[in-house]
Amino acid sequence: MKKVNIAIDGPAGAGKSTIARTVSETLGFIYLDTGAMYRAVALKAIRQGINTRDLNALSELVKNIDVRIFYAANEQRVLLDNEDVTCEIRTPEISIAASDVAAVPEVRIKMVELQRDIAKANDVVMDGRDIGSYVLPDADVKIYLTATVEARALRRFNEQADKGIKAASIEEVMKDIEYRDRNDSTREFAPLVKAGDAVEIDTTHMSVREVVNKIISLIKEQS
Ligand code: C5P
Repeated sequence: MKKVNIAIDGPAGAGKSTIARTVSETLGFIYLDTGAMYRAVALKAIRQGINTRDLNALSELVKNIDVRIFYAANEQRVLLDNEDVTCEIRTPEISIAASDVAAVPEVRIKMVELQRDIAKANDVVMDGRDIGSYVLPDADVKIYLTATVEARALRRFNEQADKGIKAASIEEVMKDIEYRDRNDSTREFAPLVKAGDAVEIDTTHMSVREVVNKIISLIKEQS
């Protein structure tokens, strides 16, 4: 039977992961955070001392990389060459490097193949930047989440503080977000873009519960 695929895209800090996770729990679907895959590639590049803007070195690196996803106690975990790197990939340094490596077509092609395999085999809520526009063009429901850059920076700052990751200041987080937004939306291959048939939700003044309820009702309307 064809699996149900829900695509949630948007810029950094728009609330995608919290919202996608809650929607997936409500529906009993798996949740796939695709950003974690690009983060794993970035971690490998940094560990090998590769400049994350060096396209040739990155397309070589990705030939022999093994990124895998598995679920433990309902939580997504990321394996990089058989090592669980779920926690290591959450630093501000990796956020920036992930945005750099994600611009390399060879990197995207490999990660997208994995994402499509997961979507074919599972009912999934998948979040990223190009899910509705490129990875799953036939997704059952497509959502594009936005919020002002100030709201997104504040959320990211608080989220990092909760995880014990110390960012210098909200301004610093905002600079990182603006860098990634620019990188992600101007790259040539599968950039961050709202799919023509996606429903846009501005989450600036909405609670997580309000956004989740809206998405669940859109999904119910479709089925
Ligand atoms: O979502 P997250 O912030 O973890 O993503 C890290 C980086 O990975 C993003 O800034 C973006 O450059 C890249 N990414 C992407 N396509 C996706 C998911 C993430 O290019 N589908």
